[in-house]
Amino acid sequence: MKILVTGGIGYIGSHTVVELQNKGFEVIIIDNLSNSKIEILDSIEKITKIKPAFEKLDLCKKEKLDEFFKKHKNIDGIIHFAAYKAVGESVENPLKYYQNNLVSLMNILENMKKYKIKNFVFSSSCTVYGQPEKLPVTEKSEIQKANSPYGNTKQISEEIISDFVHSNEELKSIALRYFNPIGAHKSALIGELPIGVPNNLIPFLTQTAIGIRKELKVFGNDYDTTDGSAIRDYIHVVDLAKAHIVALKRMFENKNEKNFEYFNIGTGKGNSVLEVLEAFEEVTKVKVNYKIVERREGDIEKIFADTSFANKVLKWKTKLSLKDALLHSWNWEKNILNLF
Ligand code: WQD
Repeated sequence: MKILVTGGIGYIGSHTVVELQNKGFEVIIIDNLSNSKIEILDSIEKITKIKPAFEKLDLCKKEKLDEFFKKHKNIDGIIHFAAYKAVGESVENPLKYYQNNLVSLMNILENMKKYKIKNFVFSSSCTVYGQPEKLPVTEKSEIQKANSPYGNTKQISEEIISDFVHSNEELKSIALRYFNPIGAHKSALIGELPIGVPNNLIPFLTQTAIGIRKELKVFGNDYDTTDGSAIRDYIHVVDLAKAHIVALKRMFENKNEKNFEYFNIGTGKGNSVLEVLEAFEEVTKVKVNYKIVERREGDIEKIFADTSFANKVLKWKTKLSLKDALLHSWNWEKNILNLF
């Protein structure tokens, strides 16, 4: 089976390519390298001993994309990661996000239809739920108005996919709503590689621990939580990557009940920022310099997943712990300087 992975040089994409190759899938990657480094391709090959086919391409360029599909026939499925994903940047530059994330998706979907590629896994996000009224959040929880243009592109993308597959009954799609992906491959050869100052907690934390950043700012300790800091559902990126293989297989085996399905992909457990910090210091024995500051605009207070639907229907659940993820992130941070 041949799988196209868009954004396959990126953080979650590269880990998914490794899991696809481990399961014997042939992989071809499209990536425009706007938020990733080409050296990751060599790292993937070092891990799996197979170098994935790769084309540098901007998915918004319709003609180029059409040439790609003309050249690469017999693609059996697509996993679509390629999108901009920085919440703060999307607030400052909404059109960049709507343009890139939605046009690239529609170009891919058009080619799916034209070249009769029937199976599509979409990288979605728990951000579609906003601040849920009730926790843990299930797939039936209300979709609230997105609190950023980034989150809105995920909501709109799911609607576009749903309408599209309903107008083309032979096509199928599964959206995976990620909670907070963290960690790195145990080889420390691939991991999160933020360009510039990291937005997300774990890369900022490991960069502070290694001395690249002076101190970690903890955004608020006045939330209604046990220690006042905000709660998230942190899922190991390798567990997350494996969920994509399960979703593909569900469609290949025609087990999907509807031609558009979506699943919460998390651990089912919430941890506060200060708990994460404490766990990091415990598992790495490295002290992290941090300061409590005011809340970050746009942050929600707490969210974690009810994963029973994915556990039951996909027969998938997380196997790696928060501490596994933090140790793997730390090993990756220490190895980055040897790789780039
Ligand atoms: C986690 C917690 C922060 C940085 C976003 C998107 C989501 C997905 C993941 C792309 C929050 C706190 C963070 C820091 C801190 N995006 N924090 N100091 O905002 O939950 O989710 O990224 O795939 O769709 O919404 O992730 O890692 O930025 O923040 O205290 O320097 O850590 O306030 O409570 P977030 P995050």
